[in-house]
Amino acid sequence: MKAYRFDSFDSLDELRLREEADPRPQRGEVLVRVHAVSLNFRDIAMLRGRYPRKCIPGLIPTSDGAGEIVALGEGVEAFKVGDRVMGAFHPRWFGGEMPSTIARDSYGAESDGWLCELKALSQEAVVRLPDALTYEEGCTLPCAGLTAWTALTGPTPIRAGHTVLVQGSGGVSIFALQLARAVGATVIATTSSAGKAVQLRALGAAEVVNYVEDPEWGRRVRVLTAGRGVDRVVEVGGPGTIAQSLRAVALGGEIASIGFLSTENPGIDFFQLKTSGASFRNITVGDRAALLDLNRAVAATGLKPIVDRVFAFDEAREAFSHLERGAHLGKVVIRVS
Ligand SMILES: NC(=O)c1ccc[n+]([C@@H]2O[C@H](COP(=O)([O-])OP(=O)(O)OC[C@H]3O[C@@H](n4cnc5c(N)ncnc54)[C@H](OP(=O)(O)O)[C@@H]3O)[C@@H](O)[C@H]2O)c1
Repeated sequence: MKAYRFDSFDSLDELRLREEADPRPQRGEVLVRVHAVSLNFRDIAMLRGRYPRKCIPGLIPTSDGAGEIVALGEGVEAFKVGDRVMGAFHPRWFGGEMPSTIARDSYGAESDGWLCELKALSQEAVVRLPDALTYEEGCTLPCAGLTAWTALTGPTPIRAGHTVLVQGSGGVSIFALQLARAVGATVIATTSSAGKAVQLRALGAAEVVNYVEDPEWGRRVRVLTAGRGVDRVVEVGGPGTIAQSLRAVALGGEIASIGFLSTENPGIDFFQLKTSGASFRNITVGDRAALLDLNRAVAATGLKPIVDRVFAFDEAREAFSHLERGAHLGKVVIRVS
């Protein structure tokens, strides 16, 4: 099979395609012919030394893939040859408390990821793809889709009448916009681009604020909610956006802390955190049970993931560059076979 590996994280030139032996499924494993892989900011963060955990060079990158089962190891009963599946982001987090194995399983950082033609993995580490989705659409669910789902559910699930703030137009934020709209919530979006603002409105954002033109965008969001603030912030900006998020959030609302897109880190004012009256929840994508819940929601609502662009397998480096430039809206996908 063909597989990409990052020989080192010095530059994108270190992403190299190789011919390797085909993997064989062991007992309890399925062999997946990978059809599509989606990229996430983490794939760039690893390359630029910004991923907040150790990254081992030489591994196959990317966490999210979808494909077709082409062979079964001994004792596999959950799937049959021909089934369409996607990987779970956390291959050994099935539900409940996060297992300690989470620190060893990170695709692309600590174990081989999905940017290859064939992948053998445990039958428990894959779930069926929703019937209505193509491989290119389905491969966007395991990280970005599930993270947005986890951010909007949790202890206080977002419902009609709530207001959700999404930041920028990347993969997680666009899923959060779609999922929030699907339950009848109002969405306020931020972006740095006038062109994307039009697209965000077309996708259902009631209001869009330009966070570059208006650095005090948190106050603007509060004004747009008649002073009350939003019920949920889907916080992907991190250290550089948290202060404005605290201005935008309602008393009793929640900041779902997800990302670290911003490069500046001015620190957090404890009293701003305290007086916001909001809760702060750390998100680590989500477990397998939640991925199954997301699949049901996608099937029931007819949600179609927004795919910005699909690259060919031999254009993988261009796909990474495209994501890094940040001109995309939604997901960047690589078609493998
Ligand atoms: N904790 C978790 O479980 C988890 C899971 C998934 C992702 N993440 C993290 O969440 C973040 C988003 O991931 P992603 O894959 O969705 O990213 P992405 O697709 O690469 O998002 C890029 C977009 O984010 C916006 N953006 C960039 N810098 C920003 C800033 N300072 N403030 C507001 N928006 C900004 C830009 O939108 P505009 O062009 O519209 O301005 C940009 O196009 C990343 O930090 C990622 O590592 C964490």
